[in-house]
Amino acid sequence: MNDINILGIESSCDETAAAVIRNGREVRSNIISSQIAIHTEYGGVVPEIASRKHLEKIDDVVSLALKEADCTFDDIDAIAVTYGPGLVGALLVGVAEAKALSFALNKPLIGVHHIEGHISANYIENKDLEPPFACLIVSGGHTHLVMVEDYGKYEIVGRSRDDAAGEAFDKVARAVGLGYPGGPKVDNAARTGDPHAIEFPRGVVAGNPYDFSFSGIKSAVLNHINKAKMTGTEINIPDLCASFQEAVTDSLVSRAINLCKERGIKKLAIAGGVASNSHIRSRLESECKENGIRFYRPSPVLCTDNAAMIGCAGYYEYLKGLRDGLELNACPNLKLGER
Ligand code: KG4
Ligand code: ZN
Repeated sequence: MNDINILGIESSCDETAAAVIRNGREVRSNIISSQIAIHTEYGGVVPEIASRKHLEKIDDVVSLALKEADCTFDDIDAIAVTYGPGLVGALLVGVAEAKALSFALNKPLIGVHHIEGHISANYIENKDLEPPFACLIVSGGHTHLVMVEDYGKYEIVGRSRDDAAGEAFDKVARAVGLGYPGGPKVDNAARTGDPHAIEFPRGVVAGNPYDFSFSGIKSAVLNHINKAKMTGTEINIPDLCASFQEAVTDSLVSRAINLCKERGIKKLAIAGGVASNSHIRSRLESECKENGIRFYRPSPVLCTDNAAMIGCAGYYEYLKGLRDGLELNACPNLKLGER
């Protein structure tokens, strides 16, 4: 069989990324141009600035991805691009780039769901991983517990009713003055803290035991900070971060493990930016071991937004014969499993 090379493109938030993926799981190149330094000045992603920066970088990022993969456009079989969900102006840059390349080179165009990309990141380093498996997706915009029934086929078992896990990390980090992006900073500060120093609530949602809620935990943290300020008490940042992280981790891990136990699932994967969190990774690792579940987690560089995961997801759509036309548009609120 001839090799199939997919050019993946990702621009849904604050990373401009392109990658070349061979036969679905082999990363020939994975270029990520991060805008974090620019947005840090504003304490979060500024959508207008993100779009402009994507526009400035996208051509160079694509060229570099080809160069690092030691290939030319002739070697590319299809172009896969994130078309949602995400910031509309940011998505549009990647979609326009992919459409222009598809038209000019006469190569197939495949629109990829960003979260499907995150899930697919697990295939890259685990050549043996195949559906079905359970996957916990924790990113800046999404918290989903899903059953991956087949490539591109999902059952959403639980989701956050309010804030996404990453959003809660970012807001807590801002409140204690750690800055943006908050997740890695809270993770770091928590290393020397006591996770049982402060008892924060574990969000429970009526109606679906697999749904998540993080706004209660976040508000409890903000109340704790306000109370300390009013009484002039010093806030122990490591203890606060560790206790907050423990509450979020309990909510995530308990639901993921319960789903596996209840349905007799022996494979659990994790995906998305928050999947880099050291505490969440180690708790899942040990609880999976205790329960005879194989645990899959992408390396941190594949947890964050990247185009290798988009190329990987695009490959399986390519094999199924899914193609998009030049009418493909950015869909900021695209639901998982929808096309
Ligand atoms: O998946 P991602 O790169 O972008 C979205 O699709 O949203 O996720 C970004 C989120 C941010 O909220 C960031 O603070 C969080 O992932 N994050 C972390 C860690 N690294 C990144 N959260 C907790 N611990 C980390 N180590
Ligand atoms: Zn993402």
